Amino acid sequence: MVFFVVRYFFMSSIKQELVNLIIRQAGLSPRYVAASLGKSARPELGDYSLACFHLAKEKKTPPEQMAQKIAAAIKPGGLIEKVNFVYGYVNIFLNNAKVIEIVLKEELQIPQEGAGQTVVIDYSSPNIAKPFGIGHLRSTVIGNALYKIYSALGYKCIGLNYLGDWGTQFGMLIADYKENPDVYKEPTTNLLVQRYVDYNIRAKADPKLMEQARAEFKKLEDKDPDNLAIFSRFREDSIKEFKRIYDVLGVTFDEYSGEADTNQYLDQTITEIEKKGLTEISEGALVVKLDKHKMPPCLLRKSDGATLYAARDIAAAIHRYNTYKFNKLIYVVGADQKLHFRQVFKVLELMGYEWAKDCVHVDFGLVRFKGEKMSTRKGTAILLEDVLSQAIERSETLMKARSAELVDKVFPEETKGVAKAVGIGAIIFNDLKNKRIKDVDFDWNQVLTFEGETGPYLQYTHTRLASLLDKYALSGGGNDKVEAKYELLNTTEEAVLIKFLKDYPDIIRQSAVESEPSILSNYLLALASLFNKFYQMHRVISDNKELTDARIVLVQRLKKVFNKGLVMLGITPLEKM
Ligand code: ARG
Repeated sequence: MVFFVVRYFFMSSIKQELVNLIIRQAGLSPRYVAASLGKSARPELGDYSLACFHLAKEKKTPPEQMAQKIAAAIKPGGLIEKVNFVYGYVNIFLNNAKVIEIVLKEELQIPQEGAGQTVVIDYSSPNIAKPFGIGHLRSTVIGNALYKIYSALGYKCIGLNYLGDWGTQFGMLIADYKENPDVYKEPTTNLLVQRYVDYNIRAKADPKLMEQARAEFKKLEDKDPDNLAIFSRFREDSIKEFKRIYDVLGVTFDEYSGEADTNQYLDQTITEIEKKGLTEISEGALVVKLDKHKMPPCLLRKSDGATLYAARDIAAAIHRYNTYKFNKLIYVVGADQKLHFRQVFKVLELMGYEWAKDCVHVDFGLVRFKGEKMSTRKGTAILLEDVLSQAIERSETLMKARSAELVDKVFPEETKGVAKAVGIGAIIFNDLKNKRIKDVDFDWNQVLTFEGETGPYLQYTHTRLASLLDKYALSGGGNDKVEAKYELLNTTEEAVLIKFLKDYPDIIRQSAVESEPSILSNYLLALASLFNKFYQMHRVISDNKELTDARIVLVQRLKKVFNKGLVMLGITPLEKM
């Protein structure tokens, strides 16, 4: 008899081993077992369960009988502690010691299911000459986390910053520049934003200014070399400013592109949409009617000939596909643009692009500051840079307040770096801890506490693990992974902790499948609390050398998961704080 050994590379090694045991013993097809075996929703009914309904139907046997037959064929031993059946389910209980051995030996490898596939992620994408508000922070932070999560799974990621770098605001800035060139000699932070806001105010009183702005923008659209040169300089200056923020956040992009880049192929795209018979003229504007799909028309070109945001996104998506042949294109943009993306994806589909189904809008909620929505126009917008520097300052103050404890742990010159990592980590985690579609409540007192569900709490847990390993190394235990008697890890706290640790690869997968970093952040919170519970009740380093060695292996694995997990979220793990 030939045994199949399946290696479904997206499965955790425990599930894989289980599948192999079952197909061998119960003579079922690998495909069937892999598809029907899942983690049990109720641990008291076993760790895994195999649903037998399909097979029962196929064999025209009652499900219960089918489950009974299969359960009887699976013999306990090794990984399997006990088997029973309930209705149409075979319930499998795992042997704790064996699970522990697998989890600790395997070092929790993340399955490389994305190998050979490309994911393009459009994130951050602020607008030039408009404030980089705390709202853009969400896109930056979520996009960056998704980039890292997908990369960990083996996907090739392309991070795109699609700047809002086209529109009448440039007409105003160019007009203003031509009038007051001196103001622009020494570009200062937010100079363009200030000038833009100021121009708007002046234009309200003097309509001639609006006309001038329109004329300058028209010249820009017609590729007037002077105006193009001014535009390029503004764009460069803005990118420099944005990069300062990205540096503080530790975020990078593979490519800066923008709405203006689509000018090269926009006309061609619009002609293509027209040729495919999708367009109509409505009140002078060129639109794609989407009534049949229960959406308002998608606007491509205004009656004055100016092209619109949606047309640019359609052209950009086609260009991205031609450039990267992506398997997935993700837009990390606020929920207020939901309709926009539904329209864009629909038009791409109607144009016959099969890959339109691979475009996803990863949306997210608002940031509320003390319960109030932030908006640029209302003047309640808070500049992101201020928030970031405040976070660092506050965390430094907090650290100094605890300095009595800290003096022997962190050198003064390290304090700044640690304060930055903690402050920024706190902001990032506050953004990633809830489902992204939920609004974020921003409250300094909650963001920066060392207790509770915060970034600092996770960083603190990481330093605890680090200091245990240091202590162990100092006491002569060495730095390297130790071979250990895993069966000694037999307390309830350890069993719970290790079983939870085993889910790490699946958690990474799930975070990618749902484009939801909060799955990872909540997992880390739960893991931290399980570890801290264990740590309160048991000593890691004791006189018992064998037990110490085994627990140190567990600590090493935990530290690695916290380290990688925090890095994936965009938070700096610390050795000391
Ligand atoms: N610049 C836009 C805004 O701030 C976001 C752009 C998102 N990306 C895109 N391809 N539309 O609202």
